[in-house]
Amino acid sequence: MASPSKKPSPDRTRPRTSEEPVPSKITAPGIRARKGSGRKILSVTAYDYPSARLVDEAGFDVILVGDSMANVVLGHASTLKITLPQMISATRAVKRGADRPLVVADMPFGSYHVSRSDTLRNALRLVREGGAEAVKLEGGRSRADMVAALVQADIPVMGHVGLLPQSIHTRGGYKVRGRTMEDARELLADARSLEAAGAFAVVLEGVPAAVAERISQRLKIPTIGIGAGAGCDGQILVLHDVIGLSFGPTPRFARRYANVAEVMREALQRFAEDIRKGRFPAESETYQVEEALPADWDRSA
Ligand code: KIV
Repeated sequence: MASPSKKPSPDRTRPRTSEEPVPSKITAPGIRARKGSGRKILSVTAYDYPSARLVDEAGFDVILVGDSMANVVLGHASTLKITLPQMISATRAVKRGADRPLVVADMPFGSYHVSRSDTLRNALRLVREGGAEAVKLEGGRSRADMVAALVQADIPVMGHVGLLPQSIHTRGGYKVRGRTMEDARELLADARSLEAAGAFAVVLEGVPAAVAERISQRLKIPTIGIGAGAGCDGQILVLHDVIGLSFGPTPRFARRYANVAEVMREALQRFAEDIRKGRFPAESETYQVEEALPADWDRSA
């Protein structure tokens, strides 16, 4: 199996030399300062080392180690099953692959619902053990006190309002939010409460474009949209939807830029066929002995 080769861009395991360009590391305050700059915040999820490297190379600002890993990597029907140790492990792998982007780890369901001290302990584990540079949690006014406690503890927080995958049971499914005036006002109040609590940015998921645009105008922190139209300060999608490695129906906003599933399927079918037909391995793919072996070399073994 190939071992991870060192990428040509600077890595974190040795001092930088004068020849190496120092990448402009993205930080939570840096993302916060993008508001009003006109520079869109480029975000995408990743859950492992190779994906993180490629996302970094493509120039993204934010990598979210999303709890969507439960669906797209682990095959669960919802995000509710993913655990804190699984999120820590994925965040560690992403950190090894990502130099420049801000690495944000999702707080999994149940990890910020019990008490303030439990929330702090869990977020600290994502930062200390996983290497996360910020955490994200779902919910508005009901979570604002947790957000404030985390910020107080020097953990930057990205909020998340609108369609909340962790609330499928209370909401009765994956529901677009803000379609009525009353609900749009609720969303604005939720987003404002996160801003007041100290969140550096907020994800708006599954919100009508006109409502998301107005919320974006009203907030002093950047909004990052997913299914929320072009009026947000940044955009995010789930990596596996972008590259075509997810199965089943995808939401209308999940634009696909490649068909990696097809590339993998074809490569694996060709490999299997080569094994079946004896075409793999070839002589050049084998090791040779250093000295000629006598015909009975195995007799005395
Ligand atoms: O887990 C995730 O992928 C997310 C994005 C959809 C924002 O929370």
